[in-house]
Amino acid sequence: MKQLVFITSNKGKFAEAAVRLAPIGYTVVQQDLGYPEVQADSLQEVAQFGVESVQKRVQSAFFLEDSGLFVSSLAGFPGVYSKYVFLTIGLRGVLQLMKVKTDRTAVFRSVVAYSQPGEETEFFVGECPGTLTYEPQGMGGFGYDPIFIPKGGDRTFADMTTQEKTRLSHRGKSLDMLARRLAPA
Ligand code: IMP
Repeated sequence: MKQLVFITSNKGKFAEAAVRLAPIGYTVVQQDLGYPEVQADSLQEVAQFGVESVQKRVQSAFFLEDSGLFVSSLAGFPGVYSKYVFLTIGLRGVLQLMKVKTDRTAVFRSVVAYSQPGEETEFFVGECPGTLTYEPQGMGGFGYDPIFIPKGGDRTFADMTTQEKTRLSHRGKSLDMLARRLAPA
């Protein structure tokens, strides 16, 4: 097995990456180094700043990932502020904002940034459309998983195993692209 470092503090993200990259012969190694999450307009900019910070401390190849939940009727909020919003008003706060909204569609976006010494950083973007529930449902996953039902389904991400979620999710898709880059068919 080859090894690839994933810079993240999030055990849920790490588990999803490990599940997705194992079949192509990669062991994902979690490193919780921490990096500044700048206030920027796009996930890619946030990821780019993170990569530049980590490159000063890590000599090997690594990847990191930035993601967010973009709610249509809230003009894309919380989007790039998803982490802050989750840690402050939480799921209850988001559901409260949605109380009067009839359009409950939302999209999860994920940007994986892959860095190798001496090479340009590569970005892989995945999206997963869906709808928000009225109440949290399910015990698995992390973050907004209990309030998000991917399009075409009737269960939240929190109702799914890591494998099921990764087959459908934004991160599953960005990791698919990374997997194809690491192990072209
Ligand atoms: P960050 O990418 O670590 O900045 O995370 C952004 C925020 O979105 C965090 O609060 C996460 O909990 C949340 N988030 C990111 N990906 C997911 C996901 O797959 N499911 C649920 N919440 C997520």
